[in-house]
Amino acid sequence: MARQAQIFDIKADDTDGLAKFAKENRIDLTVVGPENPLAAGIVDKFTERGLAIFGPTQAAAEIESSKVFSKDLMQRHGIPCAKSASFNDLEKAKEYVEKQKKPIVIKADGLAAGKGVIIAETVPQAIEALEGVMKTKNFGAAGDSVVIEEYLMGREMSFFVFTDGQKILPTVPACDYKRIYDGNKGPNTGGMGSYSPPPFFNDIMGDIIIKTVMEPTVLALADEGRPYIGTLYGGLMITNNLPKVIEFNARLGDPETQVVLPRLKTDLLDIITAVLDKKLDKINLEWHEEACVGVVLASGGYPGKYKTGLPIIGLDELDKDIMVFHAGTKPGPKGEVLTSGGRVLTIAALGKNLAEARQKVYNNIVKIRFEGCYYRKDIADL
Ligand SMILES: Nc1ncnc2c1ncn2[C@@H]1O[C@H](COP(=O)(O)OP(=O)(O)O)[C@@H](O)[C@H]1O
Ligand SMILES: [Mg+2]
Repeated sequence: MARQAQIFDIKADDTDGLAKFAKENRIDLTVVGPENPLAAGIVDKFTERGLAIFGPTQAAAEIESSKVFSKDLMQRHGIPCAKSASFNDLEKAKEYVEKQKKPIVIKADGLAAGKGVIIAETVPQAIEALEGVMKTKNFGAAGDSVVIEEYLMGREMSFFVFTDGQKILPTVPACDYKRIYDGNKGPNTGGMGSYSPPPFFNDIMGDIIIKTVMEPTVLALADEGRPYIGTLYGGLMITNNLPKVIEFNARLGDPETQVVLPRLKTDLLDIITAVLDKKLDKINLEWHEEACVGVVLASGGYPGKYKTGLPIIGLDELDKDIMVFHAGTKPGPKGEVLTSGGRVLTIAALGKNLAEARQKVYNNIVKIRFEGCYYRKDIADL
């Protein structure tokens, strides 16, 4: 970004600072990437000041920022999801998990950067997870409440729609890889790679997802006085060809966006403008036939402790058609690129099919080097 635009050092969750900046600099349009500012009400703040902004209000974004709210909403409106119960009392939560089938899924209510969900195989593991979330407060106030839910088996998939609060337009679907190690082992991360389209997906499945999940959810939020405007991300588990919701995100989540947007032919700005003008019915989304694969390069140790400030070399040796998305990087004093986070880069490519896209990505990843660089070798290896 620093190479393409001017960067200003205002933190993403400093919503006042951002609103002030946008006002003073007459920014025409703000697109919100991460979840924290949405949960903090950045959209409400900009809208109050007459500034155009793309994303849901604080009340609508609660569909992501509170898993308790999101589950309750789905249950009130008959949207398919895992059976669950919510607790704000540790002892009651412990009693409940003892009686449930294992594995069982424990989820901190609030935002936890993709790390607040624990899949427990046994009662002691479940109790340890509950204590970590509710007593030790490993995720802070996000763990004041928990959702405990049934473990769903199936294929996981992400499905985005653009919506102006009424009309919805689906994007192409994607799959991501949550676990840190090959073969889906180890702890959950923010995502280690993704691809689009999933080979098991077809148009009938897409219709079912739209009719049973995405449309009813947008309507439910409108009905409850929290109209949702922006991109709604459904994290789904497909079991016997039917979707159940794992969670919603209130934004273009990564790493899936990094394989969905490269396939988009329609100008994203036209879509955003149509959403804000409530004219989404005038837009027809067009997609490239090509497949897309993205692999995340992470700092050694992530999602646990890791070093930062390490120089990254080889970025200028990549083939022309390779896309590099920077996540945890920063410019060094001599203009070099340094690591600055857990997930450092996503390397992505389009190809005539998934196999070709995958080959391009892995052929190029070996050219990139930084100390401790870790990536999964099995992304899109289907
Ligand atoms: N009920 C469930 N059954 C099986 N796996 C689940 C379930 N809920 C969550 N998971 C797994 O845990 C991951 C993270 O859960 P999610 O609810 O998406 O939380 P977050 O993205 O906020 O960490 C999911 O992507 C999925 O792989
Ligand atoms: Mg998720």
